[in-house]
Amino acid sequence: MRMYDVIRHKRMGLAHTEQELRWMIEGFTAGSIPDYQMAAWAMAVCLNGMTRSETAILTDAMMRSGDTVDLSRFGTRSVDKHSTGGVGDKTSLIVTPIVAALGGKVAKMSGRGLGHTGGTVDKLESIPGYRTELSPEAFLSQVERVGLAIIGQSGNLAPADKKLYALRDVTATVDSLPLIASSIMSKKLAAGAHAIVLDVKVGSGAFMKTREQGEALARQMVEIATACGRQAAALVTNMDVPLGEAVGNALEVQEAVSILQGGGDPKLRALCEALAAEMAVLCLGLTPNAATRQVTEAVDSGAAFRQMCRWVEAQGGDPAYLTDPSRFPAAPAYAVTAPVDGYITGMDAEAIGVAAVTLGAGRATKEEAIDHAAGIRIIKKIGDQVKKGDPIATLYTNHAGAVRAATEAYLAAVTVGDTAPKAQELIYSVIR
Ligand code: URA
Repeated sequence: MRMYDVIRHKRMGLAHTEQELRWMIEGFTAGSIPDYQMAAWAMAVCLNGMTRSETAILTDAMMRSGDTVDLSRFGTRSVDKHSTGGVGDKTSLIVTPIVAALGGKVAKMSGRGLGHTGGTVDKLESIPGYRTELSPEAFLSQVERVGLAIIGQSGNLAPADKKLYALRDVTATVDSLPLIASSIMSKKLAAGAHAIVLDVKVGSGAFMKTREQGEALARQMVEIATACGRQAAALVTNMDVPLGEAVGNALEVQEAVSILQGGGDPKLRALCEALAAEMAVLCLGLTPNAATRQVTEAVDSGAAFRQMCRWVEAQGGDPAYLTDPSRFPAAPAYAVTAPVDGYITGMDAEAIGVAAVTLGAGRATKEEAIDHAAGIRIIKKIGDQVKKGDPIATLYTNHAGAVRAATEAYLAAVTVGDTAPKAQELIYSVIR
């Protein structure tokens, strides 16, 4: 077989055979297919697409290109969740202890922040002592004992995807539904869970800008999981505005605690409960109604919060920071005030994410250290009425020099109008 022919087939709009796809991924992983040929192929896929069956085979081949986690000891109880990334998205910190409190087994590998979006591993590292690296045995034994462990992604998970993604990033070939779906799902499948719930974000702060794009991606990912013998469901959700009220690592952990203690933004709680209920349906075999009821009870009774404390402690984190979040080191605070009277009619989530990075909550380069105390607390959200001079957000940073630019960026990201906007939907659709 020649890579030249594989590229030519896709350029002509033909569907690949299973043999072609598996041969290509093996060769690319081993280094016998060079980057320039793989990039040419990725461009042909961007232009001509792939069938569902090609996408499932590509995903399976990339999943098998490196380590896979064996969660078979947990049977159908193992469950994972994945968000396509957003601003203020701390749902994993809330949803996973809820599901573990109900008896689900969550062995989760999470990522770091990327660009304007945050990452669960960075958030967890704001809890003193929390270890985001565990040996495979320690990881699985914690899931067995505590029901939940979250670590950083293992270095050799789906290496074919790692190489391909790096190429796509610099050859304008990220934007392809089958390539995105297979990239995300190859890592999720390699992580081993029997059931996977996907939160596909749509809007200004997300990768997918329209609901149609988000639903198409969600459908493809659910189909891939099913074709690979797993159970899956996807929620397509709004990321036009940041999720909840906090953007930034320690601030988001504190917000997660407040949701699990019965407080916080009701919309954030509603999304987390919906995600947790989908997970409970898939891993515990509950009906949707029973799952929804049990999820709400787990939060109201404090069982989910106690589960969060057990998990964090098992992983070396100091649970005193959860029971008393005032222990988290605070950065100096700076108020952003409303420039005019009116209603908040728009918030550009991506621009707010970028402002948080400027304050130190994210990295401009991979090597940069994060300031865990930095970030933004949103006081006024879409639909809220404001008077000129009212505080609409608080910026937290240890870099006083960043405050002016971040304040300007925040004000540019927020639109104030004369009339209250229509309420926005939070969950657009559920794909099962
Ligand atoms: N995230 C991934 O992991 N892969 C993509 O292709 C896009 C987003």
